[in-house]
Amino acid sequence: MWHTLKYEGGALSLLNQLLLPEREEYVLCRTAGEVCRCIRTMVVRGAPAIGVSAAYGVVLGALEGLSEEGVFNPLAATRPTAVNLFWALERMRRVWKDAGADPARLEAEARAIEAEDLAACRSIGRRGADLLAGKRTVLTICNAGALATSGYGTALGVVRACFERDPRVRVYALETRPYLQGARLTAWELRQDGIPVTLLTDGMAGWALKALGIDAVVTGADRIAANGDTANKIGTYQLAVLARHHGVPLYVAAPTSTLDPSLPDGGAIPIEERASDEVTILAGRRLAPQGVPARHPAFDVTPFGLITGIITEQGIFDPHGHPRH
Ligand code: MRU
Repeated sequence: MWHTLKYEGGALSLLNQLLLPEREEYVLCRTAGEVCRCIRTMVVRGAPAIGVSAAYGVVLGALEGLSEEGVFNPLAATRPTAVNLFWALERMRRVWKDAGADPARLEAEARAIEAEDLAACRSIGRRGADLLAGKRTVLTICNAGALATSGYGTALGVVRACFERDPRVRVYALETRPYLQGARLTAWELRQDGIPVTLLTDGMAGWALKALGIDAVVTGADRIAANGDTANKIGTYQLAVLARHHGVPLYVAAPTSTLDPSLPDGGAIPIEERASDEVTILAGRRLAPQGVPARHPAFDVTPFGLITGIITEQGIFDPHGHPRH
């Protein structure tokens, strides 16, 4: 059985998500610097998985004998949008300060963060399946699955829990240009579990919502501001606009570690802008003329008003403040 991340024997093993679906290979990180590289280059990605990996990166840094700044600053500089990274580092920093960089205490905290994330995903799945009872056709974007968390997933946790209750559940996955998390990762992990999945290109979303009998859109999140505005993979905002136009509910599934109450609204969320080469070059092949500029914001922000509900492990929030569950 594959794993997204596993810490044992003083090393963090990460499934190399850059190679999926062709190859299942693991990268073994023995230093905090190696964990930084894996997060930056997206060997491991997805907000909760980034946070958990960074927590183990702190353990490795302590084992190396690095200073507090030498450990925390590079890990915090890897990717800016997913707040789970900073949330996990904050927890680890408290232990570092209390316990004087004791690797055993730090490892215990990292393991607790990992276990809590898995438990949160299962709770999100249960709550989401209650909410979606009777709905069978789900559209999703990016990968908010076991590959993006300690296991089970957030948006795909909801799908998994729905499928456990009703095997007629099926998923449409948007391919999610330019990294193709939908095509490479969501399609791969759902097939591992035998959950029916059909791939669509991102430009098919409007047509799909009109023609395919989609009951609900379910996505993950990278950071949720105090007012509920949600940053998630680029393309989520247009999906939310389209879903609203077609009267299809859009749910965001995320652990409370993705909430950032320090930011008043989505305008304050830092959005990662990645290299334009990631848009113009695909699998080593140039797709656009040399010199043509391309933009690559990795995330966009969906206003809370377009979100039907945010499913967390603690409960469901909706823009009208209706109490749920
Ligand atoms: O750039 P990525 O692949 O790290 O982006 C991932 C997403 O946008 C996910 O939807 C989000 O992190 C939630 S993962 C449970």
